[in-house]
Amino acid sequence: MNRFEANLRIPGPTSLPDAVREAGARQMVNHRGPEFAVLQNSIIARLKTFYKTENDVLIVTAAGTGGLESAIVSFLSPGDKVLAVTIGAFGDRFAKIASAYGADVTKLASEWGKAAEPAKVHEALQAGGPWKAVLMTQNETSTAVTNPIEALAKVAHEVAPDALILVDAISGLGAVPFETDAWGLDVVVSGSQKAWMVAPGLSFVAVSPRAWEAAAVAKMPKFYFDLLAHKTSAEAGQTPWTPAVAVMFQLEVALQLMEQETLPEIWKRHAAVGAAVRAGLTTLGFKLLADPKFASDTVTGAWIPEDLDWKTFNGKLRKYGLIVAGGQGALKGKIFRIGHLGHVTIPNILNAMAVLEQTLIELDRPVTPGTAVAASQVAALKALGVTK
Ligand SMILES: Cc1ncc(COP(=O)(O)O)c(C=O)c1O
Repeated sequence: MNRFEANLRIPGPTSLPDAVREAGARQMVNHRGPEFAVLQNSIIARLKTFYKTENDVLIVTAAGTGGLESAIVSFLSPGDKVLAVTIGAFGDRFAKIASAYGADVTKLASEWGKAAEPAKVHEALQAGGPWKAVLMTQNETSTAVTNPIEALAKVAHEVAPDALILVDAISGLGAVPFETDAWGLDVVVSGSQKAWMVAPGLSFVAVSPRAWEAAAVAKMPKFYFDLLAHKTSAEAGQTPWTPAVAVMFQLEVALQLMEQETLPEIWKRHAAVGAAVRAGLTTLGFKLLADPKFASDTVTGAWIPEDLDWKTFNGKLRKYGLIVAGGQGALKGKIFRIGHLGHVTIPNILNAMAVLEQTLIELDRPVTPGTAVAASQVAALKALGVTK
């Protein structure tokens, strides 16, 4: 065990504010009783403001992947034609879930590090169909790229107006700009352990009236993840199965903190920490994976230089309390990722940059003390609009 406080810089689970941690220690309530109904109704109403939606929002006790599975099984039938727009490991996972349940999936993949291009989605939609659904990832955590969901959804509405738009917004919603209703998104999934500053265990799923119409005739096999069952229970102030009550206690407090900060300020803070991480890593000589135009403000991926021994480097980072994430899928061993979402401040990032500088200097690499920290701070101040 490390005796120093960790700077947990992975893209979820994210560290929790003290008040959120404490809320998780509260005594249980009857999940079929009135206290729970009040809790759930209040959480749902507040989630809707962060989702920017008037649609139903349901709470599913599951990891984010369970939320994605609920989106597939509740609205689709085996044989349905689905276009899976994928730009990385999580887009691939969404496509895999749809295939596992028998959807007829066409994958439109982009080179890792790039965002999906609306023109290519246009082309793919026109080339096939009739489409029942289009799957998209808002923020591809494996490549640290944020997709232009508004533009992608616009194309889908134009070319395949009957297709449902299902969005994995797990690692971006609540941190970076997102509009469920204004962008016409039918099903939007997020997860408690990301921007919401809460322990893992809950997935949130927004569902449009059009998606509910599809649910009425959807034939994919389902039980636990049946969102119609969740809807019926939610109307009675309950959940179909025993929910992660402690995580919901935490969420209630986290939402209060988010409301106090306000959504525009949360977005601004994420823009600042994102800019700070990118500037700092670049100053340290790392090459970033993401196309700069679509670089994520919740996670950053950097190539590990060939002459840098990852194990030694990461071991040293850990000794200083800096916990970063490795690469996934094809990028395993090739990149490392720094998470900067949820309960994260600019000083957290400056600390991470100081540790990176210190570690690289100890490893005899040509880094000048203070340069990455300074570059990070300058970028953050600029993103905040404090300096030009
Ligand atoms: C974009 C995205 N989709 C899906 C998932 C899967 O979520 P979970 O690990 O909670 O199942 C993650 C988790 O990192 C993610 O970042």
